[in-house]
Amino acid sequence: MLKLPPLSLYIHIPWCVQKCPYCDFNSHALKGDVPHQEYVDHLLADLKADLPMVKGREVTTIFIGGGTPSLLSSQGMQQLLDGVRTLLTVSPQAEMTMEANPGTVEADRFSGYQQAGINRISIGVQSFSPDKLVRLGRIHGPDEAKRAARLAASLGLRSFNLDLMHGLPSQSLNEALDDLRQAIALSPPHLSWYQLTIEPNTSFGSRPPVLPDDDALWDIFSQGHQLLTAAGYQQYETSAYAKPGYQCQHNLNYWRFGDYLGIGCGAHGKITFEDGRILRTVKTKHPRGYMQGRYLDKQHQVENEDRPFEFFMNRFRLLEAMPKQDFSDFTGLSESSIRHPIDQALTTDYLAETTTHWQITQKGKLFLNSLLELFL
Ligand SMILES: C[S@@+](CC[C@H](N)C(=O)[O-])C[C@H]1O[C@@H](n2cnc3c(N)ncnc32)[C@H](O)[C@@H]1O
Ligand code: SF4
Repeated sequence: MLKLPPLSLYIHIPWCVQKCPYCDFNSHALKGDVPHQEYVDHLLADLKADLPMVKGREVTTIFIGGGTPSLLSSQGMQQLLDGVRTLLTVSPQAEMTMEANPGTVEADRFSGYQQAGINRISIGVQSFSPDKLVRLGRIHGPDEAKRAARLAASLGLRSFNLDLMHGLPSQSLNEALDDLRQAIALSPPHLSWYQLTIEPNTSFGSRPPVLPDDDALWDIFSQGHQLLTAAGYQQYETSAYAKPGYQCQHNLNYWRFGDYLGIGCGAHGKITFEDGRILRTVKTKHPRGYMQGRYLDKQHQVENEDRPFEFFMNRFRLLEAMPKQDFSDFTGLSESSIRHPIDQALTTDYLAETTTHWQITQKGKLFLNSLLELFL
């Protein structure tokens, strides 16, 4: 029997001051001003059109991502979140995150966001090295990043996150560890530590920079991981570290195969229905088409045969043991339907099993693609 998982809301803000050469997110360099009012109106109309799918359900987390959401005025944010609360039941304990670029942070605006209901801020620091920030095409230096982190810490928010990347062009082990040390010194409750990937449709994709080789990347990862662990951060996903009790609830819901509405340019949604359907939605990517009122770009139902792969693809990113019951509850399929691939994963030592849980092993993490292929 299929059970409805927790429901989250993702809101996309598609503009940035300029496009970073490594970035493949749906973000567009801003020409002129952000159309605050107009875009917020469209976001709320988009949400309104999605409402019949989630009648009576409570939203447990909200994430405003981008692009650069901190380009939105605090009045715009207030209108947006007031509108959301009018249309949807938002849990009083809901985690409400917004992303911020340190080059766009102002104290007044930050406290305005907080008044609007934001209780968690995620700051895109990337590195504290002035040279690396230039190489990454960032619009800020290290001091602005530190100022933004200190401001976030001073507001008494529930939590804040710093995004860092490693494996940067010509980065040495010491430079990567130094970035981590400077981040840890700012005491963020959450740290996202991504390895830079070269994406095809980016400037770095067409003119690839020289990156550390595999051995150097391994040293960066293993020594950085030790540094973070010694500072009290627990890794709970490939790139996510948090102090105990500060895991990002919104991302946890994605990785646990939860439901989410996605509104705004290019936003993805996944909604489970009581009759057993699971629907995936994608919104119009470009602001031009989106702001003409064509919100939904495409949608499709997740067929039974695709559900195990989709479930495990998300779930195996988390290091926690997974309750077997979640699989049946959220896919509507029986455990026996995946007994064969599970047995193969146990024999190859990719997975461990108790009567109630499955746990990915160290080997499973190393050979994640082979493990997932078993469920295709
Ligand atoms: C939408 S951005 C965060 C907010 C804001 N746009 C900013 O950059 O400050 C999400 C994060 O993904 C990470 N990221 C983006 N492109 C990446 C890439 N090619 N490889 C690894 N991490 C990447 C960066 O750490 C970035 O902060
Ligand atoms: S990394 Fe952030 S600021 Fe840079 S282009 Fe991507 S979304 Fe915009």
